[in-house]
Amino acid sequence: MPATVILGAQWGDEGKGKLVDRLAEQATWVARFQGGNNAGHTVVLGEQVLKFHLLPSGITRKECHLILGDGMVVDPWVLDTELKGWLESSGEDPKGDRLFISERAHIILPYHRFMDSLDKKIGTTGRGIGPTYADKINRVGLRFGDVAEVLGDDAWTTATVARMNASLEAAGAKDRITHENLAGNIQWIHDTYHHCIANTGLMLDNALKLGEHVILEGAQGCLLDIDQGTFPFVTSSVTSRGNATHGAGIHPGHVEEVIGITKAYITRVGHGAMPTELNDEVGEHMGTVGHEFGTTTGRPRRCGWFDAVVMRHAQRINGFTGLALTKLDVLGGLEELKICVAYELDGKEITELPSTASAIARCKPIYITMPGFPSLSLPEWLAMAASANKSGKGISMLPLAAQQYIAKLETLVGVPCTSVGVGPDRDATIDCV
Ligand code: GDP
Ligand code: IMO
Ligand code: MG
Repeated sequence: MPATVILGAQWGDEGKGKLVDRLAEQATWVARFQGGNNAGHTVVLGEQVLKFHLLPSGITRKECHLILGDGMVVDPWVLDTELKGWLESSGEDPKGDRLFISERAHIILPYHRFMDSLDKKIGTTGRGIGPTYADKINRVGLRFGDVAEVLGDDAWTTATVARMNASLEAAGAKDRITHENLAGNIQWIHDTYHHCIANTGLMLDNALKLGEHVILEGAQGCLLDIDQGTFPFVTSSVTSRGNATHGAGIHPGHVEEVIGITKAYITRVGHGAMPTELNDEVGEHMGTVGHEFGTTTGRPRRCGWFDAVVMRHAQRINGFTGLALTKLDVLGGLEELKICVAYELDGKEITELPSTASAIARCKPIYITMPGFPSLSLPEWLAMAASANKSGKGISMLPLAAQQYIAKLETLVGVPCTSVGVGPDRDATIDCV
C-alpha cells in the first residue's frame, strides 16, 4: 500500500491527531516528518484525553510502528516525559521496539530553548524550534546520529559551549551553558536513546516496498509553513506536502492520498493577522464551544469564519486529494454562517493571499452568508455519526443546512470532503460516502 499524507490546511490545530489516530487503524507505520514539540495533537478515546507533542498519534494502535523522522527537531527531555506518561497509562515502553528516532533528526538543547524564550515578535511556543532549525541551516546543529561521535569529545564540547554562550550574550540572554552541563546532556541523550536511533527513512522505504501502509503525520499547518505561510509569523519548517516524503526520507512517488484537515471555521495561536478573526459573540461561541485553547501552551486560540482564500492557497501548495472537515458541531446553534470568499485590499477585490504580513493585515474579508443549523449535544452527534457510518448514509444524515454548508466549502476549495468531524471523540466522525 502507498503512503498517506495528513496535513493541517490552516494555522494548525485542525484536528490532525484525531484523524491520524482514526486512520492508523489501517496502517502499520505512522511517521512525523517536520516540526517538533511545538505541536500538540489530541486524541480522545471516551473519557481518556491524550495529548502528543512528539509521539506520533498512531501510538494508540499497538500494531503501528512509530517514526520521528529526518526533518524533525526533537527535545529529548520532552520526549522522555511523554514516554513516561505513555508508560504509566499503557504499561508500554515503545523505544527501540516500535518507536525509532531518525539519526538525521536535530536535537533541541537547553541553549535553543533559552534563545527561543527571547522571542517577543512571533509569539512562538517557546520550545526552541526556530533556534534549532537555525543551527541546522547554519550546519552546526547536533543530530541524534552524531551523539555517539561527540560523546566524551572535549574539544567539541568546549567549542560548542563557546559558540552557544557567545550567541546568548549577543542576544541579551541571561542564561549560559556550562561545559559540565552540555557533556552531561550528551551522555544522558546517548544512554536514553542510543538503542532507538536508526536510519528511519530506510525502514519506511522497506515497509512500503513490502506493501505496508504508512501515514505521514504533519504538524502545524500550511499557513505556518516557512516558505508558503504568512511569513514572518510562521514556524521554521516546511509543513506542506513537498516536505512530507523528503522529511521522512522516502520519495514522493510513494504517496497516493493527501488529506488536508480544516476546521469548519478557522483558528490561530500566536501573532500575525487572520483576516476573518472575530472579536464578537460569534468568535466567543467558537472559542467556548470548540474549547479553543492551545494544546501545547494553553493560550486562547483566536477564532474566525472559514476562509476560502486561505484554503485555496493551501490547496494550490498541497494538491489535497480529500478534505477532512472537523468541528462542524461547533457551528451548531449559530443563526447564520459566513464564508470568506475574497478580500478587499486597499479598495480592490483580491482572491489570492498576499505575501506580506502588512498587506494581509489590511485585508478585509468579503463574505457570503448561509443558513445555520441547530446545535446538538455531544452524545447526539456521536449517535448520529454511528448511525451515519453504519447505515452508509454518511453526511446525508446531517441537517440540510449543514450539508449545504459542506457542499459550498467543497466547491470553493475544489476538493471533496472525505470525513466530517462532529465531536472530539475518535468515533465522532462521519465518513463521506
Ligand atoms: P492538531 O494539532 O491538529 O492535532 O489539533 P489539536 O489537538 O491541537 O486541536 C484540535 C482540538 O479539537 C482538540 O481538542 C480535539 O480534541 C478537538 N477536535 C478535533 N476534531 C473535533 C471535532 O470534529 N469536533 C470537536 N468539537 N472537537 C474536535
Ligand atoms: P499543531 O501541530 C498551532 C505557531 C505558534 C507561533 C508560530 C511559531 O498542534 O497544529 P514555533 O514555536 O513553531 O516557532 O512558533 O507557530 N505554532 C502552532 N500553532 N498549532 C501548532 O502545532 C503550532 N506550532 C507552532 O503559536 O505562532
Ligand atoms: Mg495542535
